[in-house]
Amino acid sequence: MGIRGMLRAAVLLLLIRTWLAESNDPSPIPKFHFEFSSDVPDVVLNLFNCKNCANEVVVQKILDRVLSRYDVRLRPNFGGAPVPVRVSIYVSSIGQISEISMDYTITMFFHQTWKDSRLSYFETNLNLTLDYRMHEKLWVPDCYFLNSKDAFVHDVTVENRMFQLHPDGTMRYGIRLTTTAACSLDLHKFPLDKQSCKLEVESYGYTVEDIMLSWEDDGNAIRMTEDLHIPQFSFLGRTITSKEVYFYTGSYMRLILKFQVQREVNSHLVQVYWPTVLTTIVSWISFWMNYSSSAARVTIGLTSILVLTTIDSHLRDTLPNVSCIKAIDIYILVCFFFVFLSLLEYVYINYLFFSEGPRRHRRRHRRPRRVIARYRYQEVVVGNVQ
Ligand SMILES: *[C@@H]1O[C@H](CO)[C@@H](O)[C@H](O)[C@H]1NC(C)=O
Repeated sequence: MGIRGMLRAAVLLLLIRTWLAESNDPSPIPKFHFEFSSDVPDVVLNLFNCKNCANEVVVQKILDRVLSRYDVRLRPNFGGAPVPVRVSIYVSSIGQISEISMDYTITMFFHQTWKDSRLSYFETNLNLTLDYRMHEKLWVPDCYFLNSKDAFVHDVTVENRMFQLHPDGTMRYGIRLTTTAACSLDLHKFPLDKQSCKLEVESYGYTVEDIMLSWEDDGNAIRMTEDLHIPQFSFLGRTITSKEVYFYTGSYMRLILKFQVQREVNSHLVQVYWPTVLTTIVSWISFWMNYSSSAARVTIGLTSILVLTTIDSHLRDTLPNVSCIKAIDIYILVCFFFVFLSLLEYVYINYLFFSEGPRRHRRRHRRPRRVIARYRYQEVVVGNVQ
């Protein structure tokens, strides 16, 4: 039989197959996976085995076959070597980094990839995309975020989960979630500080003997949107690391994503630095005032102190009550000191003026008495002569 004859046979078999597939006959699945001798062109093979087409019935059969023997409670390769689970993250936004509650909010697409040979299929070459309804039916790794305070998977309009199954049983599982993660900020240099926040991923129950977590190794384990914008901060960079940690239940792989941000000082420049600088300069106006206009000089000094106190207490409202001394505290203290010195200068001037005044006054009183005394003396002398 030549190529032409074989092609004809293939087309005929394909027709029969389509006919069988379309009829709702519960007859056993026809076995189309024939082995041809190696001189048959791939085109024919593909045509015959329908490697690049997948109709509803074929996929339905794949899923039924695969899931019928599937035990969702057991991890892939149960009892054997640990399953390598590769993790990648696509960050879609990073929300407010809060100093008060020491945390930040991050929204991301969290992807995990592993191989579950129980799910492999040969009927087609295509990847199968499955949705959130498969979540209960398939085994998934039990990853959690170590430092998260709160997290949820988005569920509008349906739960944001997806599964992508490849013919060899490789599973890509993606969820879109938002988590609020703890991030302890070091505020010593506030507001000129750089911060680094972490996101730690770990398997909750499976030790390294069951699951080997690792970052996706193609260099883009972490990707971010182009227009990532963090309020009040500018993004500096990120690093990924992993380490093994030991608990009394066993040792676990921990994946750590760390990103560095720098605070943008502009808003503090407008809200704190410029007002305090101007207030301090205003308190120096009193140096050019007449020393006798005490009302004006004292008012300027005290008002400056009040303005500084107000700015300081307003600033304190937006910051946690931590014991560390922040850079801005020292700055405001220095402003206070200058204003205080300018008030002190007035007090000194006042002292010089009023201490000089009464003494001269007293002297003026004393002089006539001395004159009178001399006069009396002279009087007495004159009296003696007489
Ligand atoms: C299935 O997915 C893999 C990995 O994403 C890709 O390389 C491959 O081309 C896909 N197969 C098909 C038939 O699209």
